Amino acid sequence: MTFVYPGSFDPVTNGHMDIINRASKICDRLIVLVSVNLSKNYVFSLEERVELLKLAIGKRDNVEVMSHTGLLVDFMHKVNAKTIIKGLRAVSDFESEMQMALLNRNLDNEIDTLFMMTSLNNSFLSSSAVRELARYGGKIDDLVPPEIADIIIRKLKK
Ligand code: PNS
Repeated sequence: MTFVYPGSFDPVTNGHMDIINRASKICDRLIVLVSVNLSKNYVFSLEERVELLKLAIGKRDNVEVMSHTGLLVDFMHKVNAKTIIKGLRAVSDFESEMQMALLNRNLDNEIDTLFMMTSLNNSFLSSSAVRELARYGGKIDDLVPPEIADIIIRKLKK
């Protein structure tokens, strides 16, 4: 079975990596999909977000990184997948995630969204917090994969 894990990944954090590691153990193929949330202004371009994910994930048999700028359900049809994976950190994520899951199901009743809880030590973590810390010189090396920490700091440090 193919799972699609969509998100902004601006940039990928250890919280996202936790979901990638967990999800890839329970599916045959995991597509990590860099997508566009129209309510966000991105710091990293689509290409940069893909590149950071590729560096962080490395070579794995059943995980690949792709990007898409249209509707998620259209991408799901293109790759013939029916399961979306999303990570939940806290109750505060739930409302918007439920809305997205139900909107996607409204577009295609065959598509389901599975939610996985991130580990407790990642539950406070967000891409926006990483960007803010990096911009002001805070330590991020325990929050993002080691392969990409310097790239993030170079891009963001004032
Ligand atoms: O990491 P994010 O910002 O919570 O990810 C949200 C994302 C990019 C997965 C979502 O906005 C999305 O699926 N965008 C693609 C456009 C789409 O299909 N929108 C309808 C579902 S709400």
